[in-house]
Amino acid sequence: MLRIILSGFGVVGQSFAKLLLSRSEDLYAKHGLKPRIVGVFDSKGSAASPAGIDLDRLLETKKKYGNIRKYHNKERESNGLEMIKGMEAEVLIETTPSNYKDAEPGMSHIVTAMKKGLHVITVNKGPLALAFPSLMELATYNHVQLMFSGTVGGGTPILDYAKNSLRGERIVSFQGILNGTTNYILTNMTAGGMSFKTALADAKKRGYVEADESLDIDGFDAAAKLVILANWIMDMKVTIKDIKRTGIRGIETSDIKKAASSRSAVKLVASCDRKLEVSPRSISVDDPLCVNGTLNAITFNSEHSGQQTIIGRGAGGMETASSILRDLLDIKQEMGRV
Ligand code: HSE
Repeated sequence: MLRIILSGFGVVGQSFAKLLLSRSEDLYAKHGLKPRIVGVFDSKGSAASPAGIDLDRLLETKKKYGNIRKYHNKERESNGLEMIKGMEAEVLIETTPSNYKDAEPGMSHIVTAMKKGLHVITVNKGPLALAFPSLMELATYNHVQLMFSGTVGGGTPILDYAKNSLRGERIVSFQGILNGTTNYILTNMTAGGMSFKTALADAKKRGYVEADESLDIDGFDAAAKLVILANWIMDMKVTIKDIKRTGIRGIETSDIKKAASSRSAVKLVASCDRKLEVSPRSISVDDPLCVNGTLNAITFNSEHSGQQTIIGRGAGGMETASSILRDLLDIKQEMGRV
């Protein structure tokens, strides 16, 4: 049995619970994996059971009351750090929102868990954006695995492709469209002729934009993903401070029209080519990187195998939950080896 503490019970946390419910038989039969969520906490409350939480009841409680405090007869306050320190478990899954100021509360959750010997899966990008090199060192020092495949590309295995499928190759540079929200806005400005303001309002209405819109619009989310890629696949030791970052607030209809006149489109591009940069750039519509809507895409330029582009959905609850499952299977495999 693999005991899990789940930090955060928002869209991704709930999707992961649903995924475990629907896949439990198959996970055991195919992979011998028997995951049990023994503790869950979010900003409003917590639930715990050493034998495993009843996920159906937890999801119902969340749906009915908007929080998980009433899962137990006696309501439980949230104290994530106490739960991580006190409960027996093998893995912490960190899904609280990314914050690029101090990376809290995710940073404390991750550090506390690793110091206690728990493996960590994070889809929260804040701690990695601010401290990737030192977090990896801490994981090595404590002999635990720190996994983060859902932080770039959501369910699309971009990191795994670059690290494992291209192993032995030397990736020379890469450029990607790594933020679905800004891509959706720029696509509407291009194809729908919308102004930035109207396109932003539309994206908000559809629920694409982060609670703090600046994270998408000013390029923080794309920069955080670039930090993760640069550290993981290019062996750079960088943090978000090392990224030159320009968002899309300044893009006007005239910029869009100018690009269109040369069969190009304006995209928010994150690139690693000697320097690390996130900025709006014109890309030819014939370039496979030039994807539309909320799609993500990344092109790797490798020394021997040339250019390869991966395209896929970069966000979404179930998509991100599937990346967590992928990491969990990797952790189990690695645990079997030691
Ligand atoms: N706000 C992000 C995006 C979510 O739009 O791509 C996924 O990281």
